[in-house]
Amino acid sequence: MLKILTFLSCFLCMINNFCLASNLEHDGWANIKLEHSLVALENPIFTERGNISIQSLRLGQAIVKQNPLTEEEKIHLRDLATKNQFYQIRSTVVASDGSESKFLSTVKACMLAEAELDDRLLVSLDYTGRVIGVTLIIASRSTCEGAFVPLSKLKEFTTSVYVRHSDVGPTPNTQSYIDKLEREKEARERGEVKDNRSILAKYWMYIVPVVILLMVSSMANPEAAAGNGGGAGR
Ligand SMILES: *[C@@H]1O[C@H](CO)[C@@H](O)[C@H](O)[C@H]1NC(C)=O
Repeated sequence: MLKILTFLSCFLCMINNFCLASNLEHDGWANIKLEHSLVALENPIFTERGNISIQSLRLGQAIVKQNPLTEEEKIHLRDLATKNQFYQIRSTVVASDGSESKFLSTVKACMLAEAELDDRLLVSLDYTGRVIGVTLIIASRSTCEGAFVPLSKLKEFTTSVYVRHSDVGPTPNTQSYIDKLEREKEARERGEVKDNRSILAKYWMYIVPVVILLMVSSMANPEAAAGNGGGAGR
């Protein structure tokens, strides 16, 4: 019985490794033009921030070239921060297949300022290795403390780039799925929706291993199984 279980778990590992290995079969590169908007406007005006080149999406190594902020830009950024407004970037990604796509990402300007321009860029790939998102995050904080940041600290971006691989196949729209779960949770908390799935649907993940175990143990012990069969026949 132990042997069969070991075999089962090895089999699962194999499937898993196979999935990971099939990721990014064709390695590619991506060049990202980064622009930012330092003034809160209804139609933001984007100015150059720098370029990122990722030579191998598989390895995820990036070369980052960014302009230091000018005096005027520093003042704009600090204004955004003191008014609790958003700092926005626009990333234009040119991929190895020649396709071009643009992504917007925003953070609270005060977080970027308090982090002294130390930010992270997450480049998300789908399972085929296509860039499907470029997200700016400030890893070192989750809120603004209202600290005073001298302009001299707003000079150079120190950006780390992370390439995030997806190891799952095509998925339904994740955000709408999360929204749906949230709505269901709220509804359940308000007691509106009864969980009316059948017992089998609710507990299949517990039932299936038990069934497998029973099958395995009856295979390992045919006499007992035959005995049980006789008992049931009576
Ligand atoms: C980014 O690339 C563009 C186009 O190749 C170039 O004009 C610009 O100077 C580059 N910027 C930096 C900061 O390297």
